[in-house]
Amino acid sequence: MSKKIYLSSPTMHGEEMKFIQEAFETNWIAPLGKNVDEFEKEISGYIGVKNGAALISGTAALHLAVKWIGIKPGDIVFCSDLTFSATVNPVSYEGGVQVFIDSEPDTWNMCPKALEKAFDKYPHPKAVIIVHLYGVPAKIDEIKAVCDKHNVPLIEDAAESLGAKIKSRQTGSFGELSIVSFNGNKIITSSGGGMLLSDNETAIKKSRFWATQSREPFPHYEHKEIGYNYRMSNIVAGIGRGQFLHLEEHIKIKKHIYHTYKKAFSDLPVKMNPYTNESEPNFWLSCMTLNENCGKTPSDIIKALGEINAEARPIWKPMHLQPVFTDRDFIFINKNPVSDDIFNMGLCLPCDIKMTEDQINLIIHTVRGVFGV
Ligand SMILES: Cc1ncc(COP(=O)(O)O)c(C=O)c1O
Repeated sequence: MSKKIYLSSPTMHGEEMKFIQEAFETNWIAPLGKNVDEFEKEISGYIGVKNGAALISGTAALHLAVKWIGIKPGDIVFCSDLTFSATVNPVSYEGGVQVFIDSEPDTWNMCPKALEKAFDKYPHPKAVIIVHLYGVPAKIDEIKAVCDKHNVPLIEDAAESLGAKIKSRQTGSFGELSIVSFNGNKIITSSGGGMLLSDNETAIKKSRFWATQSREPFPHYEHKEIGYNYRMSNIVAGIGRGQFLHLEEHIKIKKHIYHTYKKAFSDLPVKMNPYTNESEPNFWLSCMTLNENCGKTPSDIIKALGEINAEARPIWKPMHLQPVFTDRDFIFINKNPVSDDIFNMGLCLPCDIKMTEDQINLIIHTVRGVFGV
């Protein structure tokens, strides 16, 4: 069997070790130290927000965002429907109630019109949480306009979109609070980790406090609030810093893979995951949908790629179809939900940064083979 081609696996470069080595030499192994401080400055500076808190995961960052907004049991939160469950689970951690909002077809992200419609039924949600799916920016101006009109805070889940831009402005800089992830499969990885970002210094300071067990500044261990053990370690931050040096390079390679596929599949009854003219995705994952009635299914392609030892995956299953959320409402404006169509007809293609041109061509050849061309 030929060597496995991954969907998206970590790509290390060597500099990561330099930062880890320094942490060892100075014995700053704990969840604090120079790497943590510098990583926070580097990522928040790059995104263009004033403050960042480095945490153990993007999920922890979302949890603290939800907590900062003050979501309490029973509060309604409007959430992207087509996403990974980590976007929406933290709402449940605090007892909130998700209302899922359908996607629009131009970016696969939250539909601003469906969002507006949701306010007719639920005039007072506590927050809106949007994702930039697979590294493609959402229609943020329209979504923000709806949020501002109704005076509701926006939380931006930029876990998959580090480096993606809208009108030259980075995703992760639009929400009252935003998060990014450095999970193993992301555009850069710290082996696992995330960051909470905000211009609001008080929010980030408070989040760092919650993330370190809500320990009050007393010599003895004093706690007035429930805390969490969410801080990123100085070793993990070192890996992140080494990776950050290669972010633009990773985006360039991912972009090349996406456009190579797009060109090679232009005569097939398929469409690559779309984006608007004003946005620059980071092309984290190359995805496609098959045209209806083309006679093939995403499973046919996933199976064919599996046979050459290449990893392809289904699109995230929409949240309104998840058994755990059957009691949650779902707002959509089209006859058929857009997220259902993308899920039913879509898949994620292998787009590992380490793929050779030969491997890219093998994927293309295999996908074309499914259509008999
Ligand atoms: C859209 C989205 N949100 C949140 C997360 C959570 O990030 P983490 O795995 O760092 O907790 C992920 C990735 O895992 C994700 O893809």
